[in-house]
Amino acid sequence: MTLREYVGQDEAKRKINFYLDAYKVGQPMPNFLFAGSKGAGKTSLAEALGLEVKRISEEKVKVLCLNCASLKNMNAFWNSVVMPHINNRDVYLIFDEVHKMPTDILTAFLTIINPNPHSKTSYTHDDYTVDFDLRRQTFVFCTTDVQQLPLSFVNRGRRLSLVDYTDADLAKIIKMNTPETHFKNEVLSYIAPTLRSNARTAALMSKDIRTYLAPLARKDFGLDDWTSLSRTLDILPMGLTRLELNLLKTLQERGETSLTALASIMGFSPSALRTDLELFLINRNLIRIGIASKRCITSIGQSYLSDQA
Ligand SMILES: Nc1ncnc2c1ncn2[C@@H]1O[C@H](COP(=O)(O)OP(=O)(O)O)[C@@H](O)[C@H]1O
Ligand SMILES: [Mg+2]
Repeated sequence: MTLREYVGQDEAKRKINFYLDAYKVGQPMPNFLFAGSKGAGKTSLAEALGLEVKRISEEKVKVLCLNCASLKNMNAFWNSVVMPHINNRDVYLIFDEVHKMPTDILTAFLTIINPNPHSKTSYTHDDYTVDFDLRRQTFVFCTTDVQQLPLSFVNRGRRLSLVDYTDADLAKIIKMNTPETHFKNEVLSYIAPTLRSNARTAALMSKDIRTYLAPLARKDFGLDDWTSLSRTLDILPMGLTRLELNLLKTLQERGETSLTALASIMGFSPSALRTDLELFLINRNLIRIGIASKRCITSIGQSYLSDQA
């Protein structure tokens, strides 16, 4: 996906274009840190920026993407990445899921990307010194979890925070992934609110729409189709999962409930409930955390359930 095709995230794109203009006249790219939830489009945006850097450099810069979960340690990284792909090369390297980067590599990068007027640093490992030149080498980092990274590292990069997508943007993402489909009667305005403001969910929904239409050999997708598809795939209003709906029902039945009690009723550990299951419900103001951390259903949550019934 190119930067032009990339939907929404206007603030992030504005900043990126600002630095791209400087890059065109020979300034180094900053070391970006893309932060945002899963499926917010971090990797896609880092890749789109990479394509642009490659284009501006007249294909001199090679774009690489590494998932940090697959990096073992500094030694392996040095031999399999630094020596063959960075040393003396023009490269744009994406470190995806950087919160999973082994500590020794992270520490090395604190030195390597430490800002200085010449944009150059030398780093020695295993008696071999590599001269890094941030005009030739751009390192960008993606993470869902800025909190897990040391502040010294976070402060080295230019942070780009991705935000929730609007329904209009989600509709655009669906359309761009199903160019052959004709959406009838505002059906996209019914689909978009079930996508949890998330780009990946929108891209996946496009696939389901194609899967739905394929055996019907049709290109039109209307409200009846959406009713049928959402019933088949159990898509609930606002894109709630069944588990989230159960949590909401439990709170309606029980009234204010402590986290531990709620977790045991639902069959989850309190931490799983807190970090996973209840977040979206709180975000949508369907439940709230009240006095003494008790969980309660809100009036919006109540009316959600009465609409369901
Ligand atoms: N802004 C966007 N415009 C269009 N499609 C997007 C956008 N962001 C993400 N996508 C789609 O969502 C999918 C997941 O995005 P990804 O970049 O992998 O998210 P993240 O890295 O934040 O988890 C991509 O493969 C792409 O199809
Ligand atoms: Mg990603």
